[in-house]
Amino acid sequence: MVILNMGCPPGLRSLSLFFLSGAASASVLQQRDPVPAGYVAAPYYPTPYGGWADDWSASYESAIKLVSQMTLAEKVNITAGTGIYMLQGRCVGNTGSVPRLGLPSLCLQDGPLGVRTTDNITAFPAGISTGATFNKDLMYERGVAIGEEFKGKGANFYLGPSVGALGRKPRGGRNWEGFGSDPVLQAIAGAETIKGVQEQGVIATLKHLIGNEQELYRMYNPLQQAYSANIDDRTLHEIYLWPFAQGVKTGVGSIMASYNAINGSAASQNAYIINGLLKDELGFQGLVMTDWLAQISGVGSALAGLDMSMPGDTIGNSVPLFGYSNWMYELTRSVLNGSVPVDRINDMATRVVATWYQLGQDKDYPPPNFSSNTADPEGPLYPGALISPRGVVNEYVNVQGDHKIIAKQVAQEAVTLLKNNGSFLPLSTKAPLFVFGTDAQADPQGINSCTDKTCNRGLLGMGWGSGSANYPYLDDPISSLKRKAANVTYYATDSFPSVAAPSSNDVAIVFISSDSGENSYTVENNHGDRDADGLKAWHNGDTLVQKAAEKYSNVVVVVHTVGPIIMEPWINLPSVKAVLVAHLPGQEAGDSLTELIFGEASPSGHLPYSIPVSEDDYPDSVSLVATPLSQTQDTYSEGLYIDYRHLNKANIKPRFAFGHGLSYASFHFSNATLTRVTPLSEVPPPRPSKPASPVAGLNTTLPAAAEAYFPDGFDRIWRYLYSWLPSGEADAAHEIGAAGSKTYPYPAGYSATQKPASAQPPAGGASGGNPALWDTAYALTLTVTNTAASGTTPGKAVAQAYVQFPASSSSAFDTPVIQLRDFAKTGAALAPGQSAQLSLSFTRRDLSVWDTVRQNWVVPEPAGRYSLWVGGASDDLPVVCYSDTLVCEVDVTGPV
Ligand code: BGC
Repeated sequence: MVILNMGCPPGLRSLSLFFLSGAASASVLQQRDPVPAGYVAAPYYPTPYGGWADDWSASYESAIKLVSQMTLAEKVNITAGTGIYMLQGRCVGNTGSVPRLGLPSLCLQDGPLGVRTTDNITAFPAGISTGATFNKDLMYERGVAIGEEFKGKGANFYLGPSVGALGRKPRGGRNWEGFGSDPVLQAIAGAETIKGVQEQGVIATLKHLIGNEQELYRMYNPLQQAYSANIDDRTLHEIYLWPFAQGVKTGVGSIMASYNAINGSAASQNAYIINGLLKDELGFQGLVMTDWLAQISGVGSALAGLDMSMPGDTIGNSVPLFGYSNWMYELTRSVLNGSVPVDRINDMATRVVATWYQLGQDKDYPPPNFSSNTADPEGPLYPGALISPRGVVNEYVNVQGDHKIIAKQVAQEAVTLLKNNGSFLPLSTKAPLFVFGTDAQADPQGINSCTDKTCNRGLLGMGWGSGSANYPYLDDPISSLKRKAANVTYYATDSFPSVAAPSSNDVAIVFISSDSGENSYTVENNHGDRDADGLKAWHNGDTLVQKAAEKYSNVVVVVHTVGPIIMEPWINLPSVKAVLVAHLPGQEAGDSLTELIFGEASPSGHLPYSIPVSEDDYPDSVSLVATPLSQTQDTYSEGLYIDYRHLNKANIKPRFAFGHGLSYASFHFSNATLTRVTPLSEVPPPRPSKPASPVAGLNTTLPAAAEAYFPDGFDRIWRYLYSWLPSGEADAAHEIGAAGSKTYPYPAGYSATQKPASAQPPAGGASGGNPALWDTAYALTLTVTNTAASGTTPGKAVAQAYVQFPASSSSAFDTPVIQLRDFAKTGAALAPGQSAQLSLSFTRRDLSVWDTVRQNWVVPEPAGRYSLWVGGASDDLPVVCYSDTLVCEVDVTGPV
C-alpha cells in the first residue's frame, strides 16, 4: 500500500514521498466496486448562493462590495492555496491574496487540540477527553483558550473541531480527535468549541464532512480510489450530519470535506452532500474546503459546491506537487471558457470574503508569526519551491497565557473512574507505591522527539498525525506521583520486572495505553486505525497488569487511550481494585490525575463510548474494511445502531456502558419537574421562505481575458500556484466562452438556475435548518444531592438525559431504545449533604425522526408518551419524566 505523507510538515522527506507516489502514477485509477443498491448521491444543482440568512447579512453586504471590485484572477486567487509550503512555509494552508483591495493571504492551521508544529503554545487535552468531561462550560472555555492561541499565532482558520470521525468504528484511527461515539455529545462539544474559538475572531473549521470513519484507504491517490462510505438518508441525518447541523446553527465559518467518497461520489465534489444537505437544507453560509490534496476534479468540484481547494495542488488525478492545480489558473480558464458559470465563482469568492468579515478579521487581525515548516528563526520563504530566497519565518510568539489552568481542568474532569472496589481510591500519600509501565513517564528521548507524535513512547497524551501538537512541557504522572507521595518506586518498563515480596498495604499502579492516528503514518504496524493492535492495550499492557495483580493484592490500573480497550484479561481479577481511564490528557497529564488518586478532587469523567466485553459485540459492519484492488465499499448497514444504540438493541451488556463514570461522592436525583415549552405538531411549522441573495446582483457577464493575464514582467516562483494565465491561453479560453461553445460534460441533473421557492427543502430555512427544529419542546429540572458520608471528597455530578420514543412509534420508525439528548454537570463539586439544581432540555429535533419520504423531521406521536430518562450513565437512569402527563418519577429502574 502507498502511504502518503499528507498534512505533515514538509522537508524533503515528505516531498520525496509525494514524488515517489507521483512517479508511479502512470496507471489510471482502479475501477470501483459498485455502490450497493439503495445508497444514493443524487445530483443536486446548482450550488445555492450564500448570503440570504439574517445572521450573515451584514458580512455579505461588505463582501459583495469587495468582490464586485475584483478581477476574475483575484476572485480565483482566494479560493485556493498557493501550493503546499509556500508563503514562508507559514501555515499548513495559505490562500492567495488580493493586496490591491486589502485582503491578505489567509492562514489555515491544524489542529483540533492546539496550534500544530510550533512552540510556545498549549497542548490541550484531545477531543475525546473533552467529551468525557460532560461539562459544557469547560468545552466552551477550552474553545476560548484555543481561539486565543490561534489568533495569537496569526492563524485565520482553526482546522477543528473534528466531529467526523464520529466514532462508528472502535478501531478508527481519528476518533480521539472528536468527542465520543454519539452524535449529541459530538454536536454539543463541537458547538461549544466553535463558540469559544469564533468569539476570538478565529474561523473554526468543522471537519470532516462526512463518513471518514476509518483511515485505511481514506484517500484518492493516483493509484487508487478512496473508499465509499455508504450511508442511508435517515442514518445520515440522525447520526452523522447531526453535529454538522448544530455547528451550522452555531455559526461555524468553514467546513472541511472528507477524503473519502459518500455513496459513490467523492466528498469534495459530492453535490448531494455539499449543495443539497449542507448549503440548502442546513443553510450553510460560510465556505467549504477540501481536505489536503483531496480535490480530484476542477469544474466538477466547483459545480458541486466546493469553495476552497487546499493546499491548492493536485494529487488525485495527475502528477502531484509539480505546481499543478485543479483550480487557480485552471479555474480561471474554466470560467473564461464558460465551463464554470460566472455566478459560481462570484459565490465562491463572496463566501470566502463574507466569512472573513463575519469573524471580524478585516479589523487588525495579526499576520502569521510562525512557520509550520521549520523551528529555525530563518528559512526559505518558499520552502515548497526547493530553491527560494530566505528570510525570517519564526517569531516565537508565546500565546499560552494562563491556558494551562483550563487544560488541566479538562484533563482532570475527563478522568473516568470505572471501578473502585470497596472505595479503594483515594489513596493516602503515605501508601507505599510501586509504579509500572513506560506510559507513566515522559518519552525519555524527548517529549517532541517523534514528528506529529508518531511513536507511542512514554506517556500517551495525544494520538498521532495532523491532530497532534508539540508539547511546550509535559507534566508526566510519575513526576507528579513522586512530588506528592512519600514512597514511590518506579519501574520504567512494560515487562513485569522482578520485585521484592510486597507487603499487604503496598499498592501497584500500572500504566497502559492504546494509540492511533492518521493514515499518513504507520506506528508499530498500525496504519492510523488500530488495525494491528485492535482494542488490546499496546506493549503487552494486559500481561503487565496480570503480572502485577499476581504479585500485589492492591492494583490500580491507569489507561491512556484513544478509545475503548478490551479489559477482560484483568478487569475481574480480585487484586485489580481500581481502574481510571485518563483518555488523552495533553500536557497536563500529571497533577490532573494524581490529585484524583490522592483525593484532592473526585473523578467526574464519564465514558464517551461503551467498553464491550468483546470486540465481537459490535456489529460486523463497523469493522475496518479493505479491498485494495478496487474501491472499498464501507456500507453502514447497521444504520442508527452504533455503540450503545447497538448494544442495547442486541441486548448485549457491555463491561462498562456509555456514560459510565464513578465518583468518590454518591449522587441521588430528586425533585424532577418537566415543563412543556413549545407545543409539538407532527411536522414542524413551514420553513421561512428564502430571501433573495445579494450574490445574485453581482455581474455575471463573461470577464475580459485581460482580467486573467499574468502582469507584465512578473517573476514566477517554481511550483507557486497562480490564478493568472499566460495571455495567449486566456485569450483562447475566452474565445470559447464568448462563442458559447463549451463542451464540458455536465453531470446528469445539472442545472445552472437557482431553485425556486417551491423546490427548496422543507427542512431548511435558516442557518442550521428550519428554526423550529431548535425550539425547546420540554424543559426538565432536577435536584442532585451528594449523599456520601461526611469526610468524603466532594465531587461534581453529571446528569445525562436520554429520550425513549413512544412504543408504537418505535416500531414504525425502528428507533433505538434510548438516545442521549442533553447533559449537565454541577458547576461546583458537591460536599456531602450538598445539593444543586440541574437543567436539561429537549428540542423538537430531539423528539423527531428523519422521514425519508417526507424529507422532513417528524415527531411520530406529538401527543404520545416520550419517556425522558435522566441519570449518571446510559445504564443508570433512575429518573423518568413522561411527555404526555408531565409526571416525573425518581428512584426507578432504567430501561436498559
Ligand atoms: C487531515 C486534516 C488536516 C489536514 C491539514 C489532512 O491530512 O485529514 O484533518 O486538517 O491534513 O494538515
